Amino acid sequence: MRIPLIAGNWKMNKTIDEAKAFMQAVSEQVTDPADVETAIAAPALLLSTMLANNPGQKLRIAAEDCYWEDAGAFTGETSPQALAAMKITYVIVGHSERRAYFNETDDTINRKVHAVYRNQMTPILCCDETMGRLEAGEKIHWVVSQVTGALKGITEEQARQLIIAYEPSWAIGSGKSASAEQAEEGCYLIRQTVADLYSDDVANEMRVLYGGSVNPENIDSIMAKPNIDGVLAGGASLNAETYLQLVHYQK
Ligand code: G3H
Repeated sequence: MRIPLIAGNWKMNKTIDEAKAFMQAVSEQVTDPADVETAIAAPALLLSTMLANNPGQKLRIAAEDCYWEDAGAFTGETSPQALAAMKITYVIVGHSERRAYFNETDDTINRKVHAVYRNQMTPILCCDETMGRLEAGEKIHWVVSQVTGALKGITEEQARQLIIAYEPSWAIGSGKSASAEQAEEGCYLIRQTVADLYSDDVANEMRVLYGGSVNPENIDSIMAKPNIDGVLAGGASLNAETYLQLVHYQK
């Protein structure tokens, strides 16, 4: 039984005061994690505030990225060891914005996936897909190569815990979500790739999320699909009321 995960990604948004106000409005209104798990990924400088304003600890607090070394002379980077010491649960790795604007590659993403596991956290590995590749019929090859590249050297036991988010770039922040059928197709493709790399058993245990213009209007149809275990919402996770509407989607 895969527990649904309604995750938000704030990207480079919110101040400490805004993060605190969000936590006060949301942290005790989210669902029991045994029923529907919830998480917000936030910029590193907001994480302490969020952890300090999460009394029931039902809402998981996640990081948006980390470096692949635990510590050292890497000015400006975020240490996975420090995130783990703070009790961060999930770390987003390989978001399409990191790939596009910060030159992240399958190799650097793979190192980060290892770093997250090494520090006893769980990666939310993002796979993107561009409209150009979709139109050129390269979607399958592209998604498979991202998953395969990111998981090099990852054990079967680690893969069981994994969360992968399918996020077509053309649906991110565009207000134009993939249809529920397109989202299901991408998530199914990811699950099949994990089945080929490991086994059906592992593929049936790991969770796959859809991300790209998810909102309270389209979440029910997305969550109704068999291979979609949750969402990674950007814009819709910034507002407390809207995020809670996502969390309380119609099952
Ligand atoms: O990580 C979240 C995705 O990039 C989706 O963002 O919901 O604003 O389209 P969005």
